[in-house]
Amino acid sequence: MNSELLEKDRKYLWHPYTQMKDYEKDYPVLIERAEGIHLYDHKGNVYYDTISSWWSNVHGHNHPHVQSAIKRQLEELDHVLFAGFTHKNAILLGEHLVRVSPRNLTKVFYSDNGSTACEVALKMSFQFWKNTGQGEKEKFIGLENGYHGDTIGAMSVGGVSVFQETFAPLLFSTFKIPSPYCYRCPCGKERENCAIECINPLEELLEKKNKEIAGIILEPLMQGSGGFIIYPVEYLKKVAELARMYNIHLIVDEVATGFGRTGKMFAVEHADVEPDFMCLSKGITNGSLPLSATLTTDEVYEAFYADYTENKTFYHGHTYTANPLSTAAGVASLELFKKENTLEKVSGTIATLHQNMQKFRDLDIVGDLRYIGMVAALELVKDKFTKEPIPFEKRIGFKVYKKGLKQGLLLRPLGNIIYLFLPLCVKEDELMDIIERTYSVIAAL
Ligand SMILES: Cc1ncc(COP(=O)(O)O)c(C=O)c1O
Repeated sequence: MNSELLEKDRKYLWHPYTQMKDYEKDYPVLIERAEGIHLYDHKGNVYYDTISSWWSNVHGHNHPHVQSAIKRQLEELDHVLFAGFTHKNAILLGEHLVRVSPRNLTKVFYSDNGSTACEVALKMSFQFWKNTGQGEKEKFIGLENGYHGDTIGAMSVGGVSVFQETFAPLLFSTFKIPSPYCYRCPCGKERENCAIECINPLEELLEKKNKEIAGIILEPLMQGSGGFIIYPVEYLKKVAELARMYNIHLIVDEVATGFGRTGKMFAVEHADVEPDFMCLSKGITNGSLPLSATLTTDEVYEAFYADYTENKTFYHGHTYTANPLSTAAGVASLELFKKENTLEKVSGTIATLHQNMQKFRDLDIVGDLRYIGMVAALELVKDKFTKEPIPFEKRIGFKVYKKGLKQGLLLRPLGNIIYLFLPLCVKEDELMDIIERTYSVIAAL
């Protein structure tokens, strides 16, 4: 039965971010069930889900509180359109999101994935300037190594060349500023003696062009898909100051960092920054169902609030906007933060993670170790002293993935970056076991 199923997978399916030819030799792993941090395949193998199933799981798979909220909701209402209609969970989740977000964020616009959460922010920002008589502000700034999703708009503000170079002719034009990549500093400095000089290109750009710029979008404190580039709080603070000073919107993409992953509910809290837009998805439903939200301010909302004839309406929406099952999962997942004291409890686990990762520094192949909250990343290099990267053709990340599976680990490296992106529910003994197993995979390379 299972081998038939896998044959059908090969026959009918096309998996994301995957060279399908790789399945000529091996099938994808057929997962039958999950619990906590564990995934169970059809052969009885157990894997630690060390990347929280693409960074979405927070409290553990199949958490009973989330499960029962979804089941209860399914008895009453599966789906209803969200234009002209509303429902309890969308309202409760909206209230809850506003309560836990930075003070100035008061309005919630739902969509259904991280890319669209960012697209919504970009479109709202763009239209805000039109609606308020400053229509010349049409351009966005993004960061090198920034990632905001795979739709055309999200790619346009992104800066990961390997994902977007093929599509370059389709993308709209944006300004790009250097990534605050301390290990490979764009200014040739060391963190210990730098004064965040990498912010200067942003300041110069804003000085010259602020009148045509609508906003800047960035991932706060951690550029995820661009290589787990974890950058100083001061950089984020300076970006926020400059955005205020030059009258452009600050759009923070918390799709990956949101919901406790950095040790606080949202990464912006580390810098005490109040953005104009905050994009959320992934962890919002504990990784159980698709949902996203773009939060914004009264000021932005008011700019769209007008008589119908003024044509200030935000013409954007998705069929599954605010799906009742997804929003039920969202409410339940946020309740768990309180019920299980998640953020207080995880601070000890974070300290254990950071402390026990230090030994990776001694391995010749490890050029850099970086971490924030429940995320830790290793940059593998050919030469530790020159920082020469391992050539792409070596496919080192793929080797780690294969070796990881044999060790009961779901590791899914990004090129030469091996990372743990752990759910907040991981227990200390599980954590130590994951670190040991990961160490043996890397040490054997
Ligand atoms: C920071 C960030 N923004 C946006 C996205 C896109 O989210 P989705 O894959 O749900 O479209 C991702 C996905 O990895 C992300 O990490």
